[in-house]
Amino acid sequence: MKIKGKEYRTIWFDNNVVKIIDQTKLPHQFIIKDLKTVEDSINAIKTMEVRGAPLIGATAAYGLVLSIIEKNDLSFLKKSSEDLISSRPTAINLKWAVDRMMKKLSGVNEKDILKIALDEAKAIVEEDISFCKNIGLNGLKIIEEIYNKKKNTVNILTHCNAGWLATIDWGTATSPIYHAHQKGIKIHVWVDETRPRNQGANLTSYELNEEGIPNTVITDNAGGILMQRGQVDICIVGTDRTLSNGDVCNKIGTYLKALSAKDNNIPFYVALPSSTIDWSIKDHKQIPIEERNSEELSHVVGIDENNEIKKVRIYPQKSKSLNLAFDVTPAKLVTGLITEKGVCKASENGLKGLFK
Ligand code: MRU
Repeated sequence: MKIKGKEYRTIWFDNNVVKIIDQTKLPHQFIIKDLKTVEDSINAIKTMEVRGAPLIGATAAYGLVLSIIEKNDLSFLKKSSEDLISSRPTAINLKWAVDRMMKKLSGVNEKDILKIALDEAKAIVEEDISFCKNIGLNGLKIIEEIYNKKKNTVNILTHCNAGWLATIDWGTATSPIYHAHQKGIKIHVWVDETRPRNQGANLTSYELNEEGIPNTVITDNAGGILMQRGQVDICIVGTDRTLSNGDVCNKIGTYLKALSAKDNNIPFYVALPSSTIDWSIKDHKQIPIEERNSEELSHVVGIDENNEIKKVRIYPQKSKSLNLAFDVTPAKLVTGLITEKGVCKASENGLKGLFK
């Protein structure tokens, strides 16, 4: 998608270096950063210079390429794969991408390994782009249906950033939005600010602005009243891990939006590529929920009147805090899952019907 009119992807490989857009600096500064070692990749994931389930998967895949460039050695590669997997715990795409790479590289000789690793990392990236594009085409039909009935602007609420910045291109939740916009359907997006890191305000609103899509940033607590007032037609969010029973783990606060949508009879859709499905665990209590540094809560980062980025404390140093990064929305609150293969019910039968 576009930044200042120029097409970008969130990650690319150039001359033995992985290039990323540093998302900790957006929307105030646009900085392309070089990752030269596997350690750089691990840090980029941990510090959230790259974030969003599909993008951290792709970064981990390229991280293994960098590991081979650094030291073509099997035990180093194995250690790199373990460190990458543990760099963030909740999004399953990370483990999915590393496992896929390691399977491809198993038994490969030293001479061929770099080329095979690079080809596989690029395949993961290209596949994600085509999956996200198809998610958009499948989700477009849902937005189109609402528009044809309403014959007026469709108001879509989204949480966090499940946009192209969270993937390689198109995004998951935003892909139907971009497709609807390109088709001339009138849309407006309510963007949840998404405390504490403000991915909605900092990233989703930014990328929608760059594409010329009308949007309004709201506090995380505003969705309820907007839904009661009939100002939300549909919610579309992303996910970091979807269980085979249709339970959806996503950014903290998603669950509250789903409850509110249910109470107000508003369709609540979750958009995901199949790389986000965890077929292995049956109970959402087994999902490792990331707990991040409390400084993300106690401090906010912004730009002052001199265009300088500042970080300030917003509550007493003595106060305790708990910073859970994700929550789980039970399948019963999800109207449907929008995937690259079509839209299905949030249930084992629904998912198995699409992904045999
Ligand atoms: O902590 P983040 O910013 O990595 O969390 C991102 C989300 O929760 C997204 O909704 C999710 O990864 C889906 S990305 C298409």
